[in-house]
Amino acid sequence: MTKIKNKIVFLCSACGDDFPKWNGQCPSCKEWGTLSEFKVSSKKKRRKTEIRESKFLPDVLSGAPVERIPTGLKEADRVLGGGLLSGALVLLGGSPGVGKSTLALHICSGIDRKALYISAEESEEQIALRARRLNVKPDHLHLSGENELDGIITHIERISPELVVIDSIQTVMNSSLDSLPGSPSQIRDCGQRLLEISKQKNVTILIVGHVTKEGTIAGPKMLEHMVDTVLYMDGDDRYDHRILRSAKNRFGATHEVGIFNMDSDGLKEVANPSEMFLAERSVDIPGTSIYPSLEGTRPILVEVQALVSNANFGTPQRNVNGFDYKRLGMLIAVLEKRMELAMGAKDVFVNLVGGLRVDDPAADLSIICSTASSTMDNPIEENIVLLGEVGLAGEVRSISRLEHRLTEAETLGFKKAIVPAASVNDKVKKIKIDLHPVKFVKDAFKILF
Ligand code: TYD
Ligand code: MG
Repeated sequence: MTKIKNKIVFLCSACGDDFPKWNGQCPSCKEWGTLSEFKVSSKKKRRKTEIRESKFLPDVLSGAPVERIPTGLKEADRVLGGGLLSGALVLLGGSPGVGKSTLALHICSGIDRKALYISAEESEEQIALRARRLNVKPDHLHLSGENELDGIITHIERISPELVVIDSIQTVMNSSLDSLPGSPSQIRDCGQRLLEISKQKNVTILIVGHVTKEGTIAGPKMLEHMVDTVLYMDGDDRYDHRILRSAKNRFGATHEVGIFNMDSDGLKEVANPSEMFLAERSVDIPGTSIYPSLEGTRPILVEVQALVSNANFGTPQRNVNGFDYKRLGMLIAVLEKRMELAMGAKDVFVNLVGGLRVDDPAADLSIICSTASSTMDNPIEENIVLLGEVGLAGEVRSISRLEHRLTEAETLGFKKAIVPAASVNDKVKKIKIDLHPVKFVKDAFKILF
């Protein structure tokens, strides 16, 4: 019998699963056209059969708690749930140019521990140039341009840092594999090896990853399953602010956001985001209103703008930035059916100013009122905030954490609030803001227009 040297497998670029046969659709994640061929050597390295000890839970609990290392950036700590955990694997994703390398370098500087920054994308000199620009204290930071996995591991062993940054996973390769850097098999293998190293040596590893047009981290989703925390950095080229979110966090809450401003000497934390988002707000113009959004546990006031105009050609356009497109369609239907505003032949544009993205239905009332305000050419008072989920019957439904949102509005000098009647409780009543509880959108319209 002849021994097969190389086995062929088909690897899915979306989920990282492998299959013996090619398929048009990945049997695992059901994506189309993502399987491609890879050769794997059948000479698998046999692991030393070293069995890990099991531990008794009370012993683990009574041991020293795992340490959280503050990153030196309050906004980043908030998203991480209080700092970087030693031995954790963190993935930082974002589109090119958003500021991932800048943030990673800030963190290296801020942690005040021995750190190793591995950049296969830029030379040591280029990183040093950026480090000078960011005013990084150089005494505990090692730089390397290594892109071979074994080399990286040797560096980690030699320097024994507490934090390692891999910038980026798409440029790191294991040369014993028969594929190019950035390919699913490389990313999977490198991710796995880095995971082993981080747990073995109790070193925190921050992996930078580029994001594809669809918004997922390029390469297998697999990587997201392997790591402890997934952070995404978001930002719009037109604005200087950058938003850091966590999509997964084994050691803290997700949905927290950190807000930064990109300036000529790096990322600066924004302590009061509402003021920033409302800085250029338009008053006395039909179609705008203020919505107190909640990002994690943190309230941020945003301006909602709508513009409604007669559609001149064919199908009317509906366009939305920062909110769910289908939900906007539903709100327009509510305006048409319940409020008797003719929207059928109108173009509707809605924009959440400042590039913030909101998935919370609590924004419905603000969006529906802004749209109506533009349709009727009737401006909404400037010192009012609007909150509430809108249902298909035109009712205003309860929302979460009303009190937090209103406290922020009060701090920023807002005087009135239209809120869902069902969300009003004693704590809410104590806030010094003129409350207008409503049950239906039409009640809100009576107050506004
Ligand atoms: P970078 O961190 O290189 O982005 P990424 O690693 O995500 O690709 O940042 C790129 C952008 O940030 C670049 O367009 C220049 C800008 N920038 C500043 O505005 N100020 C700074 O201090 C730095 C370092 C970068
Ligand atoms: Mg970079």
